[in-house]
Amino acid sequence: MLSIIVAISKNYCIGNGGKIPWKIPGEQRRFKELTTGNTVIMGRRTFAEIGRPLPNRRTVLVSNTYSWNDANCVTVSSFEEALRVSDPLRNEVFVAGGAGIYREALQYADRLIITHIDIEVDGDVFFPHFDGLGFEEVSREHFDGEIPYDYVTYERRKRCE
Ligand SMILES: NC(=O)c1ccc[n+]([C@@H]2O[C@H](COP(=O)([O-])OP(=O)(O)OC[C@H]3O[C@@H](n4cnc5c(N)ncnc54)[C@H](OP(=O)(O)O)[C@@H]3O)[C@@H](O)[C@H]2O)c1
Repeated sequence: MLSIIVAISKNYCIGNGGKIPWKIPGEQRRFKELTTGNTVIMGRRTFAEIGRPLPNRRTVLVSNTYSWNDANCVTVSSFEEALRVSDPLRNEVFVAGGAGIYREALQYADRLIITHIDIEVDGDVFFPHFDGLGFEEVSREHFDGEIPYDYVTYERRKRCE
């Protein structure tokens, strides 16, 4: 199973100045629950924001200028190589950004796990529009608060035989 996991604002923004442009206590709970024990693919800037491989997960870092290799992290030079080493046919694999990696992953993903943040924000990194790519909403959970958000899951529509 290959899943894209991302939090996006109403204007599809995901990042600003190398950081996530909002702080919502608890909003990343689902990311931790779903990815723990599994494989996470991410680009170099997303990795730099976190600063180290995530604990209790296998990280596949995509970069041609930086590398981190240890028991829980491997560096590869392309998204295709990231798919080869993470093997989503046998493993639960999550694509965790940023924008270019998401764009490449959209053609392969079985599932989009999106936190829709109910604000518009200024930013410099955006998630691609995915209308018309064959995904349908299968679940939605709403959370109220100073900045409300929804946990939404989309699955790729089965193709008719
Ligand atoms: N809201 C969210 O859920 C979310 C999730 C993730 C990230 N973010 C935000 O997004 C921003 C970072 O995203 P970003 O798009 O700027 O950067 P990014 O994708 O994290 O990193 C870009 C770098 O990754 C490597 N890379 C990406 N695609 C590659 C490919 N196909 N082949 C080889 N290398 C590849 C390259 O590294 P080299 O230059 O080293 O070769 C590239 O410069 C931050 O602001 C972060 O906070 C938000």
